[in-house]
Amino acid sequence: MHHFDYKNNALHGEDVALSDIAEKVGTPFYCYSAATLRRHFRVFADAFKGQDTLVAYSVKSLSNLAVLKLLANEGAGADVVSAGELKRARAVGIPAKKIVFSGVGKTIDEMTLALEEGIHQFNVESEPELLQLSEVATRMNKRAQIAIRVNPDVSAGGHDKISTGRKEDKFGISWERAEEVYAQAKDLPGIDVVGVDIHIGSQITDLAPFEQAFTKVTKLVETLRAQGCPISRLDLGGGLGIPYHHNHGTNTPPPPTPSEYAALIRKITDPLDVQLIFEPGRMIVGNAGILVAKTIFVKDGDVRRFLILDAAMNDLIRPALYDAYHEVIPVKEPAATAEMAQVDLVGPVCETGDTFARQRNMPPVQKGDLVAFLSAGAYGAVQASEYNTRPLVPEVLVDGDQFAVIRERPTVEDILKREIIPDWL
Ligand code: LLP
Repeated sequence: MHHFDYKNNALHGEDVALSDIAEKVGTPFYCYSAATLRRHFRVFADAFKGQDTLVAYSVKSLSNLAVLKLLANEGAGADVVSAGELKRARAVGIPAKKIVFSGVGKTIDEMTLALEEGIHQFNVESEPELLQLSEVATRMNKRAQIAIRVNPDVSAGGHDKISTGRKEDKFGISWERAEEVYAQAKDLPGIDVVGVDIHIGSQITDLAPFEQAFTKVTKLVETLRAQGCPISRLDLGGGLGIPYHHNHGTNTPPPPTPSEYAALIRKITDPLDVQLIFEPGRMIVGNAGILVAKTIFVKDGDVRRFLILDAAMNDLIRPALYDAYHEVIPVKEPAATAEMAQVDLVGPVCETGDTFARQRNMPPVQKGDLVAFLSAGAYGAVQASEYNTRPLVPEVLVDGDQFAVIRERPTVEDILKREIIPDWL
């Protein structure tokens, strides 16, 4: 569900014509819909109404302060993976008690900051991390509340590069060693064991792997409690997939809805009486954002027609990195009778990998026309770079009939200013 629709033959973000934004800020730009963000957060949170639940929005998926502020206003907590993300969450007023800290490589400085802030929970991913955290906390005369991320050896996720719950993945502590590590953690001076954590991957569109992993982890909670570990929280991670195909259907079934997901979780975890923690990213922001680009040239090659856009792999790397599919539609609504033809959608970066789609069926698009990449809210702007000295694209938030630039486009001069030529050159 999203609020990017054609009205009067022009694509709008809520009540704002995207061509008006393009005129004001130039292209390319990311545009997010406030109504969609609020709706997605509410649908997810409401699915667990009446239960002790913390929805810790996964900041990595889209970390702009305005988006975080909007979600904080809805009651969101935050799942952070760096000091930077922790500072973002605190900067918009997300209470420390609603923040969980995930990630395999937390530094001493990051642990110190999180302990100073008094965050809700560290999700610990290894024994060296556990020992280090205990040491840092003891030195600070504090205790870190922790969950250990266990790796349930379940294969899931939309792509090999975003699957995290298999034995060979770098995440978490192996299932076989979990009880032993909990026993060790219980006796460490700087540690309060409070929970169990899993996260099996991203863009999971089927409930089966969740069911498998959650059933396994529920049994572990029971075992740990029997061994004297006071487990009162269960962090089930993120990972619920979203539809990427909108107007052009495929045979892939739609991902589970939050209420189907919640029903499954209730069925499995109800007897435990724990606080449930979730770390959703993509399902909150994915379909709440688009990337708008302009067609620089239409180039007819020997065997292909190329739409050369002013957006490139540095602005939206998902197709190059994960072969991800993003639907691309013209901003000016095509006539119902428009003939579709196959084109390759490419950017100006000097690599063949700078290809968004090959042989994509599109209505006619001409030089100067705007197109929109749908479902680009999650892992879009946050994974952008300045490769080819292309400035980061601006981000815009629409809310009803108003819009605001929430990150400005830097100038090339801004980029050059950050670099230093030593005197001795
Ligand atoms: N919690 C943990 C510990 C995670 O590692 C992640 C995502 C999430 C929560 C949020 O997962 P989500 O609900 O968004 O699926 N860049 C890739 C996705 C990487 C996901 C990394 N971890 C992409 O563009 O598809």
